[in-house]
Amino acid sequence: MAQKPVCVEDFEQIAKQILSKPVYDYYRSGAGNQQTLADNVSAFSRWTLNPRVLRDVSVLDTSTTVLGQRISMPICVAPTAMQRMAHPAGETATVRACRSQGTGMILSTWATSSIEEVAEAAPDAVRWLQLYIYKDREVTKSLVLRAEQAGFKGIFLTVDTPYLGRRFDDVRNRFKLPPHLSMKNFKSFDLAFSKSGYGEDSGLAVYVAESIDPSIKWEDISWLKSVTSLPIVAKGILRADDARKAVQCGVDGILVSNHGARQLDGVSATIEALPEIIEATEGKVEVFLDGGVRNGADALKALALGARAVFVGRPAVWGLAYKGEEGVHEVLQILKDEFRLAMALSGCSNVEEIDKSLVRRNPWPFSKL
Ligand code: FNR
Ligand code: LAC
Repeated sequence: MAQKPVCVEDFEQIAKQILSKPVYDYYRSGAGNQQTLADNVSAFSRWTLNPRVLRDVSVLDTSTTVLGQRISMPICVAPTAMQRMAHPAGETATVRACRSQGTGMILSTWATSSIEEVAEAAPDAVRWLQLYIYKDREVTKSLVLRAEQAGFKGIFLTVDTPYLGRRFDDVRNRFKLPPHLSMKNFKSFDLAFSKSGYGEDSGLAVYVAESIDPSIKWEDISWLKSVTSLPIVAKGILRADDARKAVQCGVDGILVSNHGARQLDGVSATIEALPEIIEATEGKVEVFLDGGVRNGADALKALALGARAVFVGRPAVWGLAYKGEEGVHEVLQILKDEFRLAMALSGCSNVEEIDKSLVRRNPWPFSKL
């Protein structure tokens, strides 16, 4: 390896060289023409920082809490499916890296390591489960109960995927899991996405159409609450009225997300959607953001606009492809160092001091074009 990676973008370049084309394409892609994929990242530059000076930043504390659990920084790892395609240790490596960095990880329903394997790999890590609701509610319920049993501390219910978004490269590549892997949370061959022969489409899109329930609606949050006492976060909200509905349905948090731009192309960047959701929720629940966070200053901007914490999806996958647990650890270390520095250079000693006055809308929104 030529040079040590120094920022998240470097990890992506290395991962691209390591991964096979269908796997890299799957991780990287956004839906459709990928307008939102680019915008998730570039929208952060439409907000500029407005730092305070001369405020004694000699002692710094980046820690915070998410759903009542303390973490070392307000940057956690978002759920990304099928991580063993990136590295043989997959999700077990990611969770260990999160534990050693003192931050949290959301495990995907579609992990290539089971809920129990991930718990065993890092029993004391801050772990949450991302949930897809299956047509078969008993299957769904058993995932939740297994997560509870295995010490996961919350359920992130993905609400933006009644069908899978259309990602051109996955269709071209007829994307499917390599034969030695399967979705380890399922014993049934059909539910584990392990069969081949999905025709001329993305295999994952066909799998979702077969097994995920496109009829889910707000009432299903009540159903979920009836089967678990774990906190529930709605992942994939982009509008103020939906945020209010989610609060009325009794969620404990909202993750402002467009699924890493992989569902509906053309939706707004998440950092643009955040302010109206903060306003709508009136501090009643914790609000998080993911999508396009690539450095510590991005995280600082999201916190200044009211997010409690941010999550990164692809950056962790690039670290995993690079060097497994160590690679994810390095990515998180870089993000932590960048966040600490951005916080200090903005005149904040801790996350409580980060407020709205630290960001300004860039008066020249088209200056980057
Ligand atoms: C995802 N995402 C996702 N979300 C989810 O709820 N369940 C899942 O299984 C997955 N799987 C998945 C795989 C891959 C390869 C990617 C890139 C994304 C979406 C993810 O949780 C998160 O919303 C985005 O990744 C955040 O955007 P960035 O950080 O990747 O820009
Ligand atoms: C994706 C699914 C797994 O974005 O959520 O690929």
